[in-house]
Amino acid sequence: MYIDITELQGFRNYTGTKAEFSREINVITGRNAQGKTNLLEAIYVLCTGKSFRARSDGELLSFSEDEARLYAHGESGERERRVEIILRRGRRREMTVNGVRQKTAQAFAGSFAAVLFCPEDLELIRGGAAGRRRFMDNCISQLRPRYAAALYEFNKAYEGKTRILRDMEEKPSLAPLLEEYDQQLARMSAELIHYRALFIESLAPECARIHAEFSCGEKLEFSYSTIKTIDDPTRPASELLPRILEHQAAHKQAETASRVCLTGAHKDDIEISINGARARSFASQGQTRTAALSMKLAELEIHKRALGEYPLLLLDDVLSELDATRQDFILNRIGGGQVFITCCEDEKIAARTGGRVLTVENGSIGN
Ligand SMILES: Nc1ncnc2c1ncn2[C@@H]1O[C@H](COP(=O)(O)OP(=O)(O)OP(=O)(O)O)[C@@H](O)[C@H]1O
Ligand SMILES: [Mg+2]
Repeated sequence: MYIDITELQGFRNYTGTKAEFSREINVITGRNAQGKTNLLEAIYVLCTGKSFRARSDGELLSFSEDEARLYAHGESGERERRVEIILRRGRRREMTVNGVRQKTAQAFAGSFAAVLFCPEDLELIRGGAAGRRRFMDNCISQLRPRYAAALYEFNKAYEGKTRILRDMEEKPSLAPLLEEYDQQLARMSAELIHYRALFIESLAPECARIHAEFSCGEKLEFSYSTIKTIDDPTRPASELLPRILEHQAAHKQAETASRVCLTGAHKDDIEISINGARARSFASQGQTRTAALSMKLAELEIHKRALGEYPLLLLDDVLSELDATRQDFILNRIGGGQVFITCCEDEKIAARTGGRVLTVENGSIGN
């Protein structure tokens, strides 16, 4: 899949600009604070319907504008695709694919897919479990629309149950609702856990292979951790459900006492180790970066295997802290699909990739 053209109006610091991309490597260069990351963000929004850094649509609008338009034209699944998003301050956004209105970001996403790697992704190795769950959720949602729907339902049930647990003592009339939320939370957890476990099962060997190549033989291992009563999380959701209900029943009193939801897919994690040591505690800076990048490159391969095409690869500021050998490793590995890579002007990346150079200056893009 490829995006050939994009147009941005009123998006962050882009007041009105059009860019044409290479179907291979695009090097986005420019001084600090000119709009390089904003351009990657726009591409990411056009692929997935959501931003990787804004908490609301309002943040995406230029400070002085009340409306923004993002548009991309390209090809995926051997079909021409035109995707457009209109954002309006204080109003619902409008999204279309080939001229047809899409009601939700979920329905909109899917024409294009993207894998992003940015400096914050080091948190995948170093940070808390929430970031790793987000990684799984983002990857699997792009592979399976059914997962995205289950995740949406799961979040609704989780929020509902959390609210009831919190307020039940003051409002005992809420208690009967709890049973319904328990059931829904367990059902949706079973779906999420099953797909996450399968995803990690296919990601782990791919990731280990890339990491070993990148680090001259280090052993990277993944294990998916979930509700204790589940022995094999890859089993079908219908078989996981009784195990989850069992855990839920055993923790009912503790939940009421602590007012916290103790059973569900919201506590899952990926345990990552390098040469047998827990990465979160023991990985060095270089190992952290290599492992995080290996996860993203593995995601790219899994996506290709599942859907037959490479998603777009968006690399924000990944090269700046790597030595030349590691930079070369990345630059040699990223062929295959369309790539967008940002770097500061002084890096001689463009020449080394042979890619098209786009220079960003104060919200305009020059070739
Ligand atoms: N909603 C917005 N409206 C207008 N300008 C914005 C908005 N959001 C961010 N900006 C501005 O856009 C500019 C460019 O941001 P961006 O993150 O794309 O920079 P960059 O080129 O990636 O820089 P760096 O090399 O430092 O990472 C910043 O000066 C920022 O203040
Ligand atoms: Mg940036």
